[in-house]
Order: sequence, then C-alpha cells, then structure tokens
Amino acid sequence: MTHAVRFSQYGGPEVLGIVEIPDPVPGPGEVVVDVVAAGLNPVETAIREGRLDVEWPARFPAGQGSDFAGIVRRLGTGVTGWKVGDEVMGHTVRGAQAELIAVPVTDIIRKPDSLAWEVAGSLYVAAANAWRAVQDVNPRPGRTVLVHAAAGGVGGIAAQLARLRGATVMGTASPESFDRLRQLGVVPVEYGPGLAERLTRLAPNGIDAELDHRGDASLANLRSADTTDTVLLAKIARMVADRQIVVPVAAIYPFDQVQDAYRELEAGHAHGKIVLGLHPVGYTRQKVRGLTMRESEATVDKPGRVAGPPAREVLPPVFGHPRHRPADPATDPATEFTGVPLR
Ligand SMILES: NC(=O)c1ccc[n+]([C@@H]2O[C@H](COP(=O)([O-])OP(=O)(O)OC[C@H]3O[C@@H](n4cnc5c(N)ncnc54)[C@H](OP(=O)(O)O)[C@@H]3O)[C@@H](O)[C@H]2O)c1
Repeated sequence: MTHAVRFSQYGGPEVLGIVEIPDPVPGPGEVVVDVVAAGLNPVETAIREGRLDVEWPARFPAGQGSDFAGIVRRLGTGVTGWKVGDEVMGHTVRGAQAELIAVPVTDIIRKPDSLAWEVAGSLYVAAANAWRAVQDVNPRPGRTVLVHAAAGGVGGIAAQLARLRGATVMGTASPESFDRLRQLGVVPVEYGPGLAERLTRLAPNGIDAELDHRGDASLANLRSADTTDTVLLAKIARMVADRQIVVPVAAIYPFDQVQDAYRELEAGHAHGKIVLGLHPVGYTRQKVRGLTMRESEATVDKPGRVAGPPAREVLPPVFGHPRHRPADPATDPATEFTGVPLR
C-alpha cells in the first residue's frame, strides 16, 4: 500500500487527508515513481474549493498536485531508455502528492544532478506558465515589463526570464519583498492603492507589457494544465541547474502536514515555492516549518523509511545567495529562446 493526498468534498485545507491506496501498477509506457518532493500551486486550492467546478470539476475522492521529482521504482511494458533508480522530475494531472505514482514516460525528464529535489519537484507548472507569458510579450532591451507578484513562484521566474531577455523589469510586491527583487535586478513597486501613480513616477515613459497571472481567470486558462511539455521543462531545469535563474523554496513541509502547507500558500505571501517532502526524514537539517534553521544549512541526511537518493544536493539557491548574480543578457545563452514580437 502507498499513501496519497485525497479530498472527498470541496472546502478549505481541512478537507485534505492522507489515505492508503494500493500501490500503483505501471501501465504500458509508464513508470512508477517514488516521489521525493511535490510542489504546491494555487490552482490546486481553486480546484479544491470548487472555484473551477465548471472548467475542472473534481471527481471524488480526488487526488492533488501536478509537480513532482522522484526515483523510478518500476517499469511498465514497452518502456525503453529508463531504468529503476533513475532520478526524474515531471508533471502529472492531479495526483503528484503521493508516495508512489504511475506516470507515462512522456511526462518525465531526467533530473539534473545539481538541481535540488525540492526545486525539481516544484518547477513545471510555475515555470511553464512564466515562460509562456514572457514569450508572449517578447521582452527585449529598451522595453519595460511589469510583472505582478514578482516575489512569488510564477512572478519570480517570469521576472528573471524577462531580465534575461534584456528588458527593464518592474515587479509588484510588498515592501518586505523589495530586497529580494532588487537582488534579481527587478525594480520593486508596491502593489495596492496608488499603484498607477507609483508606476508613472518610476517609469515615466510607460510600460510596454504587463504580466498579471493573478486571479481565477488566469488559472482557468492555464496552458500547462493537462499536458507536459518536456522539452520546455528540460530547458528550464537546465537554466535553474546552471543558476541562470533562481527558484527559491519558501518552505518544505513533511507530507503529513499537507494542510499546513496549503494554509501557508493560501496566505498569499510565500517567497518562492512551497513543497511537500515525501522523504522528510532528511529534513532534520533542512529548512522545514517548525524547525529553526538557517537557509545556509544544506540538505543532509536522507530518509530512513525508504532507501533514498544520495545526499549530494546543496540547498536550493535563494534570493540573495552569495553565488547568485543577475545574468548578463549580452552573453547569456538563455536569451536564445524565441518569442512572438511584442505588439
Ligand atoms: N502557479 C502557477 O503556475 C499559476 C499559474 C497561473 C496563475 N497563477 C496565479 O498567480 C498568482 C500567483 O501565483 P504563484 O504561484 O506565484 O503564487 P505565490 O507564489 O503564492 O504568490 C505569492 C506572492 O504573491 C505576492 N502578492 C500577494 N498579494 C499581492 C498583490 N495584491 N499584488 C501583487 N502581488 C501580491 C506576494 O508578495 P508579498 O509577499 O511581497 O506580498 C507573494 O510573494 C495566484 O493568484 C495564482 O492563482 C499561478
């Protein structure tokens, strides 16, 4: 038997529970992945609360979660090119938050060695949406792009991608997040009443493009919802592994604290991704809610419950990390991605 997050009615985080289900059996072309980390996204809250009941109704008991990273444990028939023990990351539809999941090999890529599990396990949905939004406005030198919620999961990646394309990037955030944005080369501007005046002052020549991914309308139009673009995922994973963009992890919660993890997400002020650690034993020296830890302390130890991955990862890069420097758009290979012309 394995454990998985399920909910059987619409509601707040309190409807989330961890239930025992039979171990998944890999179908043809599928592998079973032992999930090490699974990220949270606001769309899961919207679905669980029934706000997307028309677009994406839940079928109870419903699974949850899309992003994951883990280790291949079983191969289905017809699977070639993968073996038991491979470290992978990927995206699935409403079910990543479980100890074992069966996924088609078309939905996974190899996890780069230097990519921390927590970052790998929370990357796809936010990064794919950020990437596509940035491509749509094709930022470039001389252009000014405004990114809303630039200290958050999607906005933080979008702001950095727009910077890599050479644009001037302004980002809305609360003053508590201003330093984080400055460290990324983003001009911070406080959201809320008076925003228009502040923007006029900071960008007297105007804003060329605005990325606002907030609200249910944008969630309902999520373009990465049911498919996995593994080419895009591999490209972004490489950029993050190479430290061209930084994906901070705001918090890691043990699997059985899934309700608390969503409470933090829903409070709306996370600075980076919130992640469930399904192999949480190793997090005795990791930055986990409830423990007093410094961000500089690295991931060490690994789970005892199930044989875990080697503990060679360093802590996910964080805003302000001494090794982080804003990319130089003139020399950075990441600027090669193609976009549609702006207007
Ligand atoms: N995750 C996705 O893939 C995805 C896709 C499409 C749409 N969305 C939507 O995009 C929004 C952000 O998603 P996310 O995953 O980036 O969430 P998130 O990481 O939880 O966003 C948290 C950030 O939002 C900022 N914020 C809070 N209130 C704000 C406001 N009124 N104006 C501007 N920024 C504000 C906070 O900044 P401070 O702490 O400085 O206040 C915080 O850093 C959500 O509304 C979500 O529904 C997300």
